[in-house]
Amino acid sequence: MKTFTANALTLAALASRVTAFPAMAMDALTEPLQADLLTKRQTAAAPQGVGALPLVPPPFDPELQYVSNKGKYKFVPPGPGDARGECPGLNALANHNYLPHNGRATIQQFITATETGFGMAQDLGGFLAIYGAIVDGYLTGWSINGGPHIGIGGSHNNYEGDSSPLKSDLNQYGNNGLLVRDQFYSLYNRQPDAATANYNLEVLRDFRKERYYESIAKNPYFSYTPFSGIEVSQAAFTFIYRFMANKSAEAPEGILNKDTLKAFMAVYGDDEENLHWKRGWERFPDNFYKRHPTDEYSIVYCRFTPYPPTDYSPQANIPRPVQTDILYFAETVPEVLGLGCNHGAVNTFNTIDPETLSNGAYTAQQVAESPLCFASEFAKVEIPLITGLSDILVAPLLSKLADLTGSMNCASIGSVNQSALTACPGFSLYGGPTGTKAKGAITNGIL
Ligand code: HEM
Ligand SMILES: *[C@@H]1O[C@H](CO)[C@@H](O)[C@H](O)[C@H]1NC(C)=O
Ligand SMILES: *[C@@H]1O[C@H](CO)[C@@H](O)[C@H](O)[C@H]1NC(C)=O
Repeated sequence: MKTFTANALTLAALASRVTAFPAMAMDALTEPLQADLLTKRQTAAAPQGVGALPLVPPPFDPELQYVSNKGKYKFVPPGPGDARGECPGLNALANHNYLPHNGRATIQQFITATETGFGMAQDLGGFLAIYGAIVDGYLTGWSINGGPHIGIGGSHNNYEGDSSPLKSDLNQYGNNGLLVRDQFYSLYNRQPDAATANYNLEVLRDFRKERYYESIAKNPYFSYTPFSGIEVSQAAFTFIYRFMANKSAEAPEGILNKDTLKAFMAVYGDDEENLHWKRGWERFPDNFYKRHPTDEYSIVYCRFTPYPPTDYSPQANIPRPVQTDILYFAETVPEVLGLGCNHGAVNTFNTIDPETLSNGAYTAQQVAESPLCFASEFAKVEIPLITGLSDILVAPLLSKLADLTGSMNCASIGSVNQSALTACPGFSLYGGPTGTKAKGAITNGIL
């Protein structure tokens, strides 16, 4: 094994002779060195968390990645009548005029805004926005708060779900959009030194595990379901680092420090022990750099099967899909790929076999290999049932969803065994942003 220094010197020596060689020859010479160097670099710095993909840092271009919070995009807090809900990313976009300030937008406006502000790929933005419009909105668009069939605030267990990072469980607190003090400080204090703090995927997956068990222990109606659980609630954690981290030349994957976390989470104050939350006041910090256009966060087919990958070459390491990060979480928190619920009292959690639920379409093993396929296919088959809309009305939007997830080649689910879900009393408690506070729920203070 060559040492880091020897490699760096070799590269420097090669670079000094770079003009003497045609470009192709140089690439062939440096490629093996580069892969080796990058592996070492990743192990040394690991800005994303040890073992998180990709190993090859994305490019950084300040011109392409700067997100303005000035002029037309300056922060304007919500006024009366402006919708702000449980999603901090969407709230921030609305506060900075990337989304309409009233918090109600069309599918296309959501796709454009999430890409412009954070570098969310259009396939992911499209999937999330279309699902929001059909299932929880008014078909052409939706509100970032709102009640049932107006917006995602009223989408309990369709979209919004339990055991979120900072926000309250609906039937534990009677509200799904509060920022819980203990949840915030549990995450915040995981990186005590402000100078080196980085809330990366490794930090987030430990926190994710705690939140999962906290919901079992405190929310009598905790439900962990295919779409709002396996897919959306994992994304709620991975998005914190993947989108909120500030990218730079030194750390092109991004560093999420304390101040940036606070800005995006609407947390204010200088007294570290007594920070406070201003509902709906999420903001883009000054000099924020989003994901590079060639490094957008997408849902596309994950090339890394089996996981962990056997091929670490730069060429194999192109996509940064949601699924890769879900599988990264599942390495240490395999619970997140299971399904289940509390039965009306705390600590009564039972699992549900995905094979029973999907009438044989997906075994637990298949879910573990492709959680996003299972979650998306489940969502698709449930749409006519949970929207109550006729097949004719939902058909065009379903076919759009099928196009977007088509590259994953997912096995489809023919029908869902509803009686498997009736075991979960919380699953039928649709609604939000406010709802029943369950008897026996254990609550903590709001920040
Ligand atoms: C159209 C796109 C989007 C949709 C439909 C959407 C929807 C949602 C929903 C339904 C939740 C609640 C999840 C839960 O119950 O755990 C949520 C939470 C969250 N979203 Fe979004 N979101 C979108 C884009 C974004 C973007 C661009 C970001 C970038 C930062 C983001 C960051 C988050 C975070 C961090 C949470 C967790 C909040 C917490 O509990 O602490 N989202 N989002
Ligand atoms: C992002 O990183 C750059 C380079 O280190 C820095 O100048 C900028 O202030 C950072 N932005 C935030 C929001 O921390
Ligand atoms: C449907 O689920 C119920 C409850 O879990 C189970 O008893 C039944 O066998 C399932 N039906 C099929 C066809 O798997």
